[in-house]
Amino acid sequence: MDVKIKKGRIEKEAAEAIVLSHFEGEESLLEETAAVDRALGGQIRGLIASGEFTGKLNQILMLHLRGGIPARRILLVGLGKKKEVGTEKIRQAMGSAGRSIREAGIKSFSTPLHGRGQNKISPSESAQSIVEGCLLGLYQFTAYRTEKRDEIKEVSQITLVDRTGGKIAEVAGGSRSGQILAEAVNFVRDLCNHPSNVVTPSRLAEEARTLAREFGLTCRVIEKNEAESLGMGAFLSVARGSLEPPKFIILEYRGGKKRDAPIVIVGKSVTFDSGGISIKPAEKMEQMKTDMSGGATVLGTMKALAQFRLPISVVGILPATENMPSGTAVKPGDVVRAMSGKTIEVINTDAEGRMILADALAYAARYKPSAIVDLATLTGACVVALGSHATGVMGTNPKLIERIKAAGEHCGERVWELPLWDVYHEQIKSDVADMKNVGGRGGGAITAAAFLRQFVGDTPWAHLDIAGTSWNDEARPYAPKGATGVGVRLLIQWLTEMSRGRA
Ligand code: BES
Ligand code: ZN
Ligand code: ZN
Repeated sequence: MDVKIKKGRIEKEAAEAIVLSHFEGEESLLEETAAVDRALGGQIRGLIASGEFTGKLNQILMLHLRGGIPARRILLVGLGKKKEVGTEKIRQAMGSAGRSIREAGIKSFSTPLHGRGQNKISPSESAQSIVEGCLLGLYQFTAYRTEKRDEIKEVSQITLVDRTGGKIAEVAGGSRSGQILAEAVNFVRDLCNHPSNVVTPSRLAEEARTLAREFGLTCRVIEKNEAESLGMGAFLSVARGSLEPPKFIILEYRGGKKRDAPIVIVGKSVTFDSGGISIKPAEKMEQMKTDMSGGATVLGTMKALAQFRLPISVVGILPATENMPSGTAVKPGDVVRAMSGKTIEVINTDAEGRMILADALAYAARYKPSAIVDLATLTGACVVALGSHATGVMGTNPKLIERIKAAGEHCGERVWELPLWDVYHEQIKSDVADMKNVGGRGGGAITAAAFLRQFVGDTPWAHLDIAGTSWNDEARPYAPKGATGVGVRLLIQWLTEMSRGRA
């Protein structure tokens, strides 16, 4: 996508379309909307007076023009209530606007800086939210459509028109940030939407190597035999049933000072979760191609991080494998030894995420990091508890959790804490081994976290269960149906604050 910035007046733009906004229930028009309305002899005011356009958040109305201003069409978009407007509302409105424009077959449009100056929204924040919202909303996954490809509609250019021009560098900076973030999220969405016969552990390793080459990161891939020598028995137990070779992928970004402890982010990377011998029901099993969402998010975050050149060191770890049933697969009742030396009784082979994370977290702790954050499509129980509007967070460090929650509020990827009290450990005690991999009926998201906790030692750690938030059954204003790419914007927001030392 080509994003341009210019100083100018929206009413003078000779564009295929311009996007104008309005606050719900306000009589007065926003400055740019008013300027265009005057040139059109009060047409917009008329639509509002008649109640045809109210300004409700994400409401859309397309007007075709025959003169008055150089632009050929206006897309009116509602920003919702004036006092409630913030970056999230702008992202949503612009996601909705971008999609309507694409549906109309329009390839480029111009837009003023919506929301700027309202509720302390800076020119840079407005620009970032507009670009983020549009680019995220315009995402579509068409890789496997071979028929009528010429009918695929695409917007290829967006122009931000800055009325004052006084803060053009800030606007450009905000726009660039929005583009880096949206492209990283869309990269993650692609990885998750591709099927598991394409995105295998080997393909994830290739993607990591490509990122390393492109952005100057260090990449190391631990193959199966080396993982065996390292004693990664928990990780390898999951891989045993599959013909796809497992890959334990490590990507390092060194932006901080040499002696600074890094932050480690770990992402569950099960490229297909059939459940293994404890096989899943057929219904919706195809969705388990996205059980590598956590790992994809780690890759996307490393990509954005390198582009932002944040002054902080971050290590990304992806334990990547399939979870398949076969004659060589791990079986219920089997006992395996994790890299940490602890033994695990496998009660249910479908609780494989925590098995691979056990070794990945222990490996992460070897860096003596200042924090470990893992992301995983870990439990159906988290989906039951929180649905698809909040990622579950649990951990050992209240301050870390608070920061992540705050970052989530800021970027519109909300996070909600579940209690990781000590008593939940009782549920994963085993009669034959140090622990078992399932915790019985109640509190499934929490007992999974209680299991992970056994492998992080004293390192401040937070676990994000993205099982409910990584996939949309229905389109949202800036996230179409399918993979959402959740976590990239959240982690970058958190890491940015960490790197400023402000957090
Ligand atoms: N990948 C699944 C969790 C999942 C479920 C993600 C639905 C996205 C949507 C995970 O590996 C799993 O199967 N968990 C089991 C754990 C159980 C056996 C203790 C679950 O949640 O049912
Ligand atoms: Zn599973
Ligand atoms: Zn899984």
